[in-house]
Amino acid sequence: MAEFEGGPLLAREAGGVALALYRVDGAVYATQARCTHADVPLTDGEIVEGLIECPAHYGLFEIATGRARGGPVCRDLATYPVRIDGTRIWVEVGPDDP
Ligand code: FES
Repeated sequence: MAEFEGGPLLAREAGGVALALYRVDGAVYATQARCTHADVPLTDGEIVEGLIECPAHYGLFEIATGRARGGPVCRDLATYPVRIDGTRIWVEVGPDDP
């Protein structure tokens, strides 16, 4: 997928919602863009074995589920359904999503 040629993490926006997109093992996932601990952009972090590691305090979240998995984070990330249509990535956000 061409959008990920620069790396497996992308910052995007859909319907007014800031998103982090991840490409992991050929699949694409979407979560809220910023860490639940101190509002840092997760797209500046690192993907480590299916987890996103926050660049600020090394909190860990499961990319596929948004679940908080380690470090100082205790609140999960919001996740969003992703659909791939040819070369386009569609992310479903709701009217109440932040
Ligand atoms: S801001 Fe992400 S772990 Fe602190």
